[in-house]
Amino acid sequence: MPDRNQAAYDFLSTRRSRPWRSIAAPAPDDATLQELLTIAARVPDHGKLVPFRFVVLREPALRRIADLVATYGQKMERTEEEIAKAREVYDHSPLAVAVVERPQYSAKVPSVEQQYAAGAACFQLLNAALAAGWAANWLSGWLSHNGPFRSNVLGLEGNERLVGLVHIGTETATPPERPRPDMDDLVTWIDA
Ligand SMILES: Cc1cc2nc3c(=O)[nH]c(=O)nc-3n(C[C@H](O)[C@H](O)[C@H](O)COP(=O)(O)O)c2cc1C
Repeated sequence: MPDRNQAAYDFLSTRRSRPWRSIAAPAPDDATLQELLTIAARVPDHGKLVPFRFVVLREPALRRIADLVATYGQKMERTEEEIAKAREVYDHSPLAVAVVERPQYSAKVPSVEQQYAAGAACFQLLNAALAAGWAANWLSGWLSHNGPFRSNVLGLEGNERLVGLVHIGTETATPPERPRPDMDDLVTWIDA
Protein backbone atom coordinates (compact mmCIF):
# COMPACT_ATOMS: atom_id res chain seq x y z
CA MET A 1 0.00 0.00 0.00
CA PRO A 2 1.22 3.56 -0.69
CA ASP A 3 1.96 5.97 2.19
CA ARG A 4 -1.25 7.68 3.22
CA ASN A 5 -1.50 11.38 4.02
CA GLN A 6 -3.75 10.64 6.98
CA ALA A 7 -4.70 14.25 7.74
CA ALA A 8 -5.74 14.93 4.14
CA TYR A 9 -7.54 11.59 3.98
CA ASP A 10 -9.45 12.26 7.20
CA PHE A 11 -10.40 15.73 5.98
CA LEU A 12 -11.75 14.43 2.67
CA SER A 13 -13.62 11.61 4.42
CA THR A 14 -15.45 13.93 6.78
CA ARG A 15 -15.62 17.32 5.04
CA ARG A 16 -19.00 19.01 4.87
CA SER A 17 -20.28 22.48 4.14
CA ARG A 18 -21.63 24.78 6.80
CA PRO A 19 -25.19 26.14 6.41
CA TRP A 20 -25.03 29.79 5.37
CA ARG A 21 -26.92 30.94 8.47
CA SER A 22 -24.15 29.52 10.64
CA ILE A 23 -21.39 31.48 8.84
CA ALA A 24 -20.59 34.74 10.63
CA ALA A 25 -17.84 37.35 10.92
CA PRO A 26 -14.92 37.41 11.22
CA ALA A 27 -14.04 36.35 7.70
CA PRO A 28 -10.48 35.66 6.51
CA ASP A 29 -8.38 38.78 5.96
CA ASP A 30 -6.96 39.60 2.55
CA ALA A 31 -3.66 37.77 3.03
CA THR A 32 -5.40 34.63 4.29
CA LEU A 33 -7.94 34.78 1.49
CA GLN A 34 -5.15 35.18 -1.05
CA GLU A 35 -3.71 31.87 0.17
CA LEU A 36 -7.09 30.16 -0.12
CA LEU A 37 -7.54 31.50 -3.66
CA THR A 38 -4.06 30.31 -4.62
CA ILE A 39 -5.03 26.82 -3.48
CA ALA A 40 -8.35 27.13 -5.34
CA ALA A 41 -6.52 27.84 -8.59
CA ARG A 42 -4.50 24.63 -8.18
CA VAL A 43 -6.86 22.33 -10.06
CA PRO A 44 -6.71 20.01 -13.05
CA ASP A 45 -7.05 22.20 -16.12
CA HIS A 46 -6.87 20.66 -19.61
CA GLY A 47 -4.61 22.79 -21.79
CA LYS A 48 -3.69 25.09 -18.87
CA LEU A 49 -6.31 27.57 -20.05
CA VAL A 50 -7.24 28.79 -16.55
CA PRO A 51 -10.94 29.07 -17.48
CA PHE A 52 -11.92 30.67 -14.18
CA ARG A 53 -11.36 33.77 -12.08
CA PHE A 54 -12.49 35.09 -8.71
CA VAL A 55 -14.44 38.17 -7.61
CA VAL A 56 -14.13 38.94 -3.90
CA LEU A 57 -17.19 40.45 -2.22
CA ARG A 58 -16.65 41.88 1.24
CA GLU A 59 -19.42 43.09 3.55
CA PRO A 60 -20.10 46.51 1.97
CA ALA A 61 -20.45 44.94 -1.49
CA LEU A 62 -22.65 42.15 -0.14
CA ARG A 63 -24.93 44.64 1.62
CA ARG A 64 -25.14 46.71 -1.57
CA ILE A 65 -26.16 43.56 -3.46
CA ALA A 66 -28.74 42.78 -0.75
CA ASP A 67 -30.34 46.16 -1.49
CA LEU A 68 -30.59 45.23 -5.18
CA VAL A 69 -32.19 41.81 -4.73
CA ALA A 70 -35.78 43.10 -4.70
CA THR A 71 -35.35 45.09 -7.93
CA TYR A 72 -33.96 42.06 -9.77
CA GLY A 73 -36.44 39.71 -8.13
CA GLN A 74 -39.44 41.77 -9.21
CA LYS A 75 -38.16 41.91 -12.80
CA MET A 76 -37.66 38.15 -12.69
CA GLU A 77 -41.14 37.63 -11.21
CA ARG A 78 -39.85 35.98 -8.06
CA THR A 79 -42.15 35.68 -5.08
CA GLU A 80 -41.83 37.90 -2.01
CA GLU A 81 -40.64 34.86 -0.10
CA GLU A 82 -37.91 34.07 -2.64
CA ILE A 83 -36.79 37.68 -2.64
CA ALA A 84 -36.67 37.84 1.15
CA LYS A 85 -34.65 34.63 1.38
CA ALA A 86 -32.14 35.70 -1.27
CA ARG A 87 -31.77 39.08 0.40
CA GLU A 88 -31.11 37.44 3.75
CA VAL A 89 -28.14 35.52 2.37
CA TYR A 90 -26.47 38.70 1.07
CA ASP A 91 -27.37 40.59 4.27
CA HIS A 92 -25.89 37.90 6.48
CA SER A 93 -22.69 36.82 4.68
CA PRO A 94 -19.36 38.16 6.02
CA LEU A 95 -17.50 37.36 2.77
CA ALA A 96 -18.31 35.71 -0.54
CA VAL A 97 -16.09 34.80 -3.45
CA ALA A 98 -17.82 34.67 -6.80
CA VAL A 99 -16.15 31.93 -8.81
CA VAL A 100 -16.44 32.84 -12.46
CA GLU A 101 -16.27 30.49 -15.41
CA ARG A 102 -14.10 32.28 -17.99
CA PRO A 103 -14.18 30.26 -21.22
CA GLN A 104 -11.09 30.46 -23.40
CA TYR A 105 -10.94 29.79 -27.11
CA SER A 106 -9.33 26.41 -27.74
CA ALA A 107 -9.38 24.14 -30.76
CA LYS A 108 -8.49 21.24 -28.46
CA VAL A 109 -10.35 21.69 -25.20
CA PRO A 110 -14.16 21.57 -25.40
CA SER A 111 -16.02 24.20 -23.39
CA VAL A 112 -17.59 21.55 -21.19
CA GLU A 113 -14.14 20.54 -19.97
CA GLN A 114 -13.41 24.15 -19.12
CA GLN A 115 -16.66 24.21 -17.15
CA TYR A 116 -15.52 21.17 -15.20
CA ALA A 117 -12.21 22.89 -14.37
CA ALA A 118 -14.07 26.00 -13.18
CA GLY A 119 -16.31 23.81 -11.01
CA ALA A 120 -13.20 22.14 -9.62
CA ALA A 121 -11.77 25.56 -8.68
CA CYS A 122 -14.98 26.39 -6.84
CA PHE A 123 -14.91 23.12 -4.92
CA GLN A 124 -11.21 23.54 -4.19
CA LEU A 125 -11.90 26.98 -2.69
CA LEU A 126 -14.67 25.52 -0.55
CA ASN A 127 -12.39 22.73 0.65
CA ALA A 128 -9.41 25.03 1.21
CA ALA A 129 -11.56 27.25 3.43
CA LEU A 130 -12.96 24.27 5.35
CA ALA A 131 -9.51 22.71 5.73
CA ALA A 132 -8.22 26.00 7.10
CA GLY A 133 -10.91 25.87 9.78
CA TRP A 134 -13.35 28.39 8.32
CA ALA A 135 -17.04 27.77 7.85
CA ALA A 136 -17.93 27.82 4.16
CA ASN A 137 -20.71 27.04 1.72
CA TRP A 138 -21.09 27.00 -2.09
CA LEU A 139 -24.35 28.69 -3.09
CA SER A 140 -25.83 29.86 -6.36
CA GLY A 141 -29.45 31.03 -6.14
CA TRP A 142 -31.70 32.40 -8.86
CA LEU A 143 -29.97 35.77 -8.95
CA SER A 144 -26.62 34.27 -9.91
CA HIS A 145 -28.02 33.11 -13.27
CA ASN A 146 -29.39 36.52 -14.24
CA GLY A 147 -27.35 38.09 -17.07
CA PRO A 148 -27.77 41.77 -16.14
CA PHE A 149 -26.94 41.00 -12.49
CA ARG A 150 -23.80 39.14 -13.53
CA SER A 151 -22.60 41.93 -15.81
CA ASN A 152 -23.84 45.08 -14.03
CA VAL A 153 -23.21 44.06 -10.44
CA LEU A 154 -20.36 41.54 -10.62
CA GLY A 155 -18.71 42.86 -13.78
CA LEU A 156 -18.81 39.60 -15.71
CA GLU A 157 -18.25 39.58 -19.47
CA GLY A 158 -21.04 38.31 -21.73
CA ASN A 159 -19.42 34.90 -22.18
CA GLU A 160 -18.68 34.43 -18.47
CA ARG A 161 -20.90 32.58 -16.03
CA LEU A 162 -21.09 32.31 -12.30
CA VAL A 163 -20.05 28.89 -11.01
CA GLY A 164 -21.16 29.87 -7.56
CA LEU A 165 -20.60 32.06 -4.54
CA VAL A 166 -18.42 30.57 -1.85
CA HIS A 167 -19.39 32.18 1.45
CA ILE A 168 -16.61 32.05 4.05
CA GLY A 169 -16.53 33.04 7.70
CA THR A 170 -16.53 31.74 11.23
CA GLU A 171 -18.66 28.85 12.42
CA THR A 172 -21.39 29.65 14.93
CA ALA A 173 -23.15 26.27 15.17
CA THR A 174 -22.30 22.63 14.69
CA PRO A 175 -23.43 21.59 11.22
CA PRO A 176 -25.86 18.72 10.78
CA GLU A 177 -24.69 15.76 8.72
CA ARG A 178 -26.67 15.12 5.56
CA PRO A 179 -27.46 11.78 3.92
CA ARG A 180 -24.70 10.62 1.60
CA PRO A 181 -25.22 8.60 -1.57
CA ASP A 182 -25.64 4.85 -1.49
CA MET A 183 -22.42 3.77 -3.15
CA ASP A 184 -24.01 0.63 -4.61
CA ASP A 185 -26.17 2.93 -6.73
CA LEU A 186 -23.18 4.89 -8.00
CA VAL A 187 -20.45 2.49 -8.91
CA THR A 188 -20.20 0.16 -11.85
CA TRP A 189 -17.24 -2.18 -11.92
CA ILE A 190 -16.11 -3.32 -15.35
CA ASP A 191 -13.62 -6.04 -14.61
CA ALA A 192 -12.94 -7.45 -18.00
C1 LIG B 1 -23.47 24.48 -8.11
C2 LIG B 1 -24.09 24.43 -6.75
C3 LIG B 1 -24.98 25.41 -6.37
C4 LIG B 1 -25.62 25.37 -5.13
N1 LIG B 1 -26.51 26.35 -4.79
C5 LIG B 1 -27.19 26.25 -3.64
C6 LIG B 1 -28.15 27.24 -3.29
O1 LIG B 1 -28.35 28.22 -4.02
N2 LIG B 1 -28.84 27.08 -2.14
C7 LIG B 1 -28.61 26.01 -1.30
O2 LIG B 1 -29.26 25.90 -0.27
N3 LIG B 1 -27.69 25.07 -1.59
C8 LIG B 1 -26.97 25.17 -2.74
N4 LIG B 1 -26.02 24.23 -3.04
C9 LIG B 1 -25.80 23.11 -2.09
C10 LIG B 1 -24.92 23.55 -0.93
O3 LIG B 1 -23.61 23.84 -1.40
C11 LIG B 1 -24.86 22.47 0.14
O4 LIG B 1 -24.33 23.08 1.26
C12 LIG B 1 -23.99 21.27 -0.21
O5 LIG B 1 -24.66 20.41 -1.12
C13 LIG B 1 -23.59 20.48 1.02
O6 LIG B 1 -22.74 19.42 0.65
P1 LIG B 1 -21.48 19.00 1.53
O7 LIG B 1 -21.95 18.84 2.93
O8 LIG B 1 -20.98 17.72 0.93
O9 LIG B 1 -20.43 20.06 1.43
C14 LIG B 1 -25.34 24.29 -4.24
C15 LIG B 1 -24.42 23.31 -4.62
C16 LIG B 1 -23.78 23.38 -5.85
C17 LIG B 1 -22.78 22.30 -6.23
